[in-house]
Amino acid sequence: MTASGTFGYGTEYQHQFDIQRLGAIVCKGTTLKPRDGNPQPRITETPCGVLNSIGLQNIGTEALIRDKAPIWAGWRVPVIVNIAGDTVDEYAETASKLNGVAGISALEVNISCPNIKAGGAEFGTTPPSAAEVTQAVKKATSLPILVKLTPHTEDITKVALAVAAAGADAISLVNTFKGMAIDTTRRRPLLGNLTGGLSGPAIRPIALYLVYQVAAAVDIPVVGCGGITTASDAIEFIMAGATAVQVGTAGLSNPRAPIEVLDGIEKFLASQGIERITEIIGVAQLARSHQAQSRRERPAR
Ligand SMILES: Cc1cc2nc3c(=O)[nH]c(=O)nc-3n(C[C@H](O)[C@H](O)[C@H](O)COP(=O)(O)O)c2cc1C
Repeated sequence: MTASGTFGYGTEYQHQFDIQRLGAIVCKGTTLKPRDGNPQPRITETPCGVLNSIGLQNIGTEALIRDKAPIWAGWRVPVIVNIAGDTVDEYAETASKLNGVAGISALEVNISCPNIKAGGAEFGTTPPSAAEVTQAVKKATSLPILVKLTPHTEDITKVALAVAAAGADAISLVNTFKGMAIDTTRRRPLLGNLTGGLSGPAIRPIALYLVYQVAAAVDIPVVGCGGITTASDAIEFIMAGATAVQVGTAGLSNPRAPIEVLDGIEKFLASQGIERITEIIGVAQLARSHQAQSRRERPAR
C-alpha cells in the first residue's frame, strides 16, 4: 500500500507506473471541511528522513466524493480513505458521509490528531480516547476500518488492544514521530508550525519494533509502516507480523518505490521457494516464544 499523505489521491502517479498492481492506495488525510494546512515551510530533509508539518491540507469530504471517488470506482486497486478530525463527532460525520460511496474500499482512521475538546492531546495517546474514536467511526460506517496508531503513547499494545476491542478491523502503524529543526541563521524553528513529524529510514527500527509488539498482542491484521524503502525492509515488517506494508517517504524521492518494493517482495518469495506470503507473516515472532521458553527451562541459580 501507499502511506497516507505521500501519494496524493493516486491520480498523480498514474503515469509513473501501473498503480493498479498495488495492494491498495491510501489517500491523503481527509477532514469534513477542506483545510489549508500549516504555514510554510512545511517540509525539511533530515539525516535519513524528512520532517513534515503539512497539517492535513486537503480538499474535504464533499470534493473527495464528487471529484475523486468516481475515478477510483473505475480502478482495480482498492482505495482506502484516510480520515482525520478535531472531535469524535467530526470523525463520525466524515465516516458516515463516505459510507456507501462507490470507489472507496475502506477507511483508515488517523488518531494522531489533537482532540480539541480535551485540551489538544492526540486521540491516539490513551486507550480510552483511541477506543472512543474507533467505536464512533465503526458505528457510522459499514466499510472496514483500519485504525492508524501514533507512536506517542506509553504502551502501544494497550492502545492496539483498546481499538481492536472497539471494533477496528485492522491496525496500521506507525504514524510520524514528533521532532523539530532550527534555522540557525534566523535563530528560529525551521518549520512554520515549529514542530513536525519525522518519517523515513530514520524511524524504521523503532517502527519495526512497535509492529513486532502490536502483532503479538492483537488478533486482527496489522499493516506495517515506517521507513520502508526496499523490499528487504518490507519483508522485515512482514516477518515481524505485518500482513501488509505501506511505503511513504521513500516515494517522495523515488515515485516508483511502492512498485519496486512489490516487485522485490515477489522476487524474494520466488528466490526462497515461498509459494504464499502467509508462510512468512510473523515468523520472527517465533524467536520471542523460543526465548521465553528457554528462559523458563533455564535452571534456577
Ligand atoms: C508529507 C507527509 C504527509 C503525511 N500525511 C499524512 C496524513 O495525512 N495522514 C496520516 O495518517 N499520515 C500521514 N503521514 C504519515 C505517513 O502516512 C506514514 O505513517 C509515516 O510517514 C511513516 O512512514 P514512512 O516513513 O514510510 O513515510 C504523512 C507523512 C508525510 C511524510
